[in-house]
Amino acid sequence: MSRIFSGVKPTGHLTLGNYLGALRRWVEVDQHRADALFSVVDLHALTMEHDPARVRRLSRQAATLLLAVGLDPERCTVFVQSHVGEHTRLSYLLECTAMDGELRRMIQYKEKGAQARAAGQSVRLSLLTYPVLMAADILAYGTDEVPVGEDQTQHVELARDLAVRFNQRYGHTFTVPKATHPTVAARVMDLQDPTSKMGKSHDSGAGIVYLLDDPDQVRRKVMRARTDSGTEVSYDREASPGVANLLEVLAACAGGEPGELAGGYGSYGALKRDVADAVVEVLRPVQKRHAELAADGAYVDGVMREGAARAREMARPRVDAAHAAIGLLPG
Ligand code: AMP
Ligand code: TRP
Repeated sequence: MSRIFSGVKPTGHLTLGNYLGALRRWVEVDQHRADALFSVVDLHALTMEHDPARVRRLSRQAATLLLAVGLDPERCTVFVQSHVGEHTRLSYLLECTAMDGELRRMIQYKEKGAQARAAGQSVRLSLLTYPVLMAADILAYGTDEVPVGEDQTQHVELARDLAVRFNQRYGHTFTVPKATHPTVAARVMDLQDPTSKMGKSHDSGAGIVYLLDDPDQVRRKVMRARTDSGTEVSYDREASPGVANLLEVLAACAGGEPGELAGGYGSYGALKRDVADAVVEVLRPVQKRHAELAADGAYVDGVMREGAARAREMARPRVDAAHAAIGLLPG
């Protein structure tokens, strides 16, 4: 059975982009067809200025939401990254395999580094080394597949390069993983700025639909989505990115192909109304289940604890092997 690993960072409230680009597939497909692990990757939330209490709150909320969207702890392993020490242990070994140049080239490092500098903040070293920790997350488990949104492709490529390099130098230790993406909505765009992805930490929340937004908030955000100056509803990512994004969200939530759905609309208003309805329906059961689980914190904590124990057992032999292969004495 193939091994799957993926994760979500608790840097903000989870969004419709996270759901359509990643979470939904983990639930509907991945947990049924593979030996899968899904993690709240909290160490990755410390790479930019952060508030400790907020990270704690968001980590618990993300864990609760992973269960609320339908990850089943009987079928897959759900855990919090920092609870499993093997990730940081392996990360250091991979830092000794990676070159600084390849990390400086990462798009996300360049973008987020520039963002921090523009805000007058200095750039944390962990922002540079972050993709190495992500590679450790993946490689520790002998992962074959990493189901992620398209924004993560470059990071998974790095994990592949590091696996190949480590294996060549020190003997076969790691499986070489590959990224997989959903067929629609692999990149959900911000409703106010349809040329950038809908991300948790975008400055204003106006273009972001959060999984816990109530139906009125969803409707308001969708109805105010930026479209284009034209009036015709057509699916063209280049010429009409805003409309294309709405069509993709509609296709992902209610079925159909974005190009074909376009033909059914004479106005942007009608399209937006259908998108809003479709999104509200997708979120309804998730929010209901989230409310139930949030009222039972002890259950969620227990699932995370068991998940971490299982993950640790799965990671340890391979991380021990890497430790020995690179030249360290066994403890
Ligand atoms: P992150 O929020 O960066 O931790 O991402 C968690 C998962 O959601 C990753 O697989 C991302 O690729 C995916 N993801 C995040 N934002 C989007 C988006 N706007 N569209 C599609 N997938 C996304
Ligand atoms: N970097 C990923 C993101 O921003 C989150 C992540 C961390 C991840 N470690 C991972 C995703 C390992 C897949 C596998 O979305």
